[in-house]
Amino acid sequence: MKIIGTGSAMPELAVTNEMLTEYFDTSDEWIRSRTGIVTRHLCSKETLIDLGVEACQKAIENAGIDPKEIDYFICSNVANNYVTPAMSCVVQGKIGATCPCFDISCACTGFIFALDIAESFIKAGRAKKILILCAEEPSKFCDWKGHDRTTSILFGDGAGAVVVTEGDDLQSICTATTSLPDVLWYKHAMEPTPFEDGIEEHVPLQMDGKGVFRTAVTSSCKDVDQVLKEANVNPDDVDLFVLHQANFRIIDAIRNFVGQPAEKFPTNLQHYGNTSSASIPILLDELHREGKLKPGMQLVMSAFGAGFVSGACCIKWSMEK
Ligand code: COA
Repeated sequence: MKIIGTGSAMPELAVTNEMLTEYFDTSDEWIRSRTGIVTRHLCSKETLIDLGVEACQKAIENAGIDPKEIDYFICSNVANNYVTPAMSCVVQGKIGATCPCFDISCACTGFIFALDIAESFIKAGRAKKILILCAEEPSKFCDWKGHDRTTSILFGDGAGAVVVTEGDDLQSICTATTSLPDVLWYKHAMEPTPFEDGIEEHVPLQMDGKGVFRTAVTSSCKDVDQVLKEANVNPDDVDLFVLHQANFRIIDAIRNFVGQPAEKFPTNLQHYGNTSSASIPILLDELHREGKLKPGMQLVMSAFGAGFVSGACCIKWSMEK
């Protein structure tokens, strides 16, 4: 497959670290030094569906195609207001697409999993043009009422989308899952039936921060190493590492592992925080629109998240600005 269009949409409201000190016992200094995050954008007037629609419309326009030409639509979303129908079904009608669509829930690694599925569909001859949307509002999983400072400072909302078609951009890809449901988890309450003894309560996002950090670095380094070897690419020949935007210290640890200079690691986490699976397609869209991606450039992408899931890929960029 190859990427032929990118798009993204962010909520209007930018929430600074300073603004968060009104709700949590934290400080700008603590957040910056531990994570690199300065602001994050949170949904206020707009909904996640609005952002998803906007990101898709921009990607479709960028690809120069009609929405009816899309023959599959994959949406990565951990949760939104709708439990059913899938978010992709709601967005599909609003963007004028008519193809089959489905959602995947692979936490922050959703974009890599979606690329893998898209590649398989294209290779199998099942689809020619696939729209991938990653739309997330992880801020809504956090415990704002309970003033839990450990997770609420990390996340932001946003949406990123790409259109892919037949091509040779994808050189290698890997995905991995290790069942570790206790390092990062969120449970929402379901309607109880009269036949149950205990009712599971809603539990806001819980995180073993150091556990996530360690697992993220280990899995990401392993994945990056694997896709580089499979594509027969030397780290020196990689132009940009487009990594999941969770924490600058995690990015730095991966950078040390591959032994490459900081200029090869673009970031926008300082502006947006961790937008879960949307983070890589949002960054990709920014780089593309700023003219920083040139045909022939060697990219590596890598992401990790709750599950524990992780994945990486090597892409030879072929799109003109
Ligand atoms: N403001 C101030 N203090 C905070 C805080 C906040 N927002 N959040 C936690 N703390 C406190 C803790 O209560 C703890 O206090 P204690 O020592 O009195 O118990 C202390 O800070 C922990 O500090 P430290 O050991 O320096 O934290 P850390 O180096 O582990 O950094 C994270 C914490 C969360 C930034 C780090 O573990 C991390 O980035 N983990 C990965 C998280 C992630 O990326 N999740 C999403 C993955 S997709």
